[in-house]
Amino acid sequence: MFTILENKPLNSAVNKLIIKAEQIASSAKAGQFVVILIDDKGERIPLTLSDWDKQQGTITLIAQIAGATTKKLSQLKAGDSIAHILGPLGHPTETEKIGTVVCVAGGVGIAEIYPVAKAFKEAGNRVLSIIGARTQELLILQEEVKRFSDELFITTDDGSLGRKSLVTEPLKELFSSIEKSTHTKYPDLVYVIGPVVMMKAVSDLTKEYSIKTIASLNPIMVDATGMCGSCRCSVDGKTKYACVDGPDFDAHKVDFNELSQRLRLFNTQEKTVL
Ligand SMILES: Cc1cc2nc3c(=O)[nH]c(=O)nc-3n(C[C@H](O)[C@H](O)[C@H](O)COP(=O)(O)OP(=O)(O)OC[C@H]3O[C@@H](n4cnc5c(N)ncnc54)[C@H](O)[C@@H]3O)c2cc1C
Ligand code: FES
Repeated sequence: MFTILENKPLNSAVNKLIIKAEQIASSAKAGQFVVILIDDKGERIPLTLSDWDKQQGTITLIAQIAGATTKKLSQLKAGDSIAHILGPLGHPTETEKIGTVVCVAGGVGIAEIYPVAKAFKEAGNRVLSIIGARTQELLILQEEVKRFSDELFITTDDGSLGRKSLVTEPLKELFSSIEKSTHTKYPDLVYVIGPVVMMKAVSDLTKEYSIKTIASLNPIMVDATGMCGSCRCSVDGKTKYACVDGPDFDAHKVDFNELSQRLRLFNTQEKTVL
């Protein structure tokens, strides 16, 4: 059993949970995730390790209410417990010093960009972050991401905070200003996490400029051991399992259309349990 120490809403759709999980906290790394099972009647869902505190033995999960399990999770109180938490899972993000890294995240993807931006910054990189949400209320972890970014660009679809645009616009502008400049160089890496359509748009853009791009994929996961096949993705024409081979992959080689289709596989069943 894993005790919840804190469960507070960050906005109307997203909750932040601090959970006692000493072993997971002791080995967690940026880019990794856990699979939780709230109780023995529940379903297993993957959530990113958004933060952890080795001294306190705690992990932080940030969950957007997307359906039955995340709704149930949002209703738990401090003192309640989660039956099973498996992790840390997945390969950690490669965050060695490479120069300039642009971290791009949309929606609840910001929960994952935070530890990744922090790790890139702590490794000595110059970090530019672009975070976006539909509206100001839904934009999370702005201050946290800012702390580990040399520059932070904010976008909202409705213009209620930052720039009224998609996250790709500041990225396009960055590239075109570099194109015109004689003394600035293109970023060494772009790291992207968020809705599939957004990751595809970023990947299409960086491909034009031949900038190495890593996407953290979010397919449906069940066992997270590479056995069940639910997180199957096509990368460079080969089958990969995001839970054990990822979740980070070379974005230019990912079949995002297939990923998008597979995420919709259980839409009908998901609606019936609500
Ligand atoms: C590696 C990874 C890390 C993730 N990290 C986070 C995070 O930090 N915060 C967050 O809010 N969400 C995260 N997600 C997505 C999260 O797992 C789903 O939102 C959650 O499973 C939805 O479950 P539900 O029962 O509430 O909703 P449902 O109604 O079951 O599903 C709503 C939507 O969520 C997706 N989904 C459903 N079941 C799964 C599943 N088992 N695995 C993955 N996606 C699923 C589907 O797109 C589905 O249409 C992550 C997904 C992956 C693969
Ligand atoms: S979740 Fe089952 S193979 Fe990856």
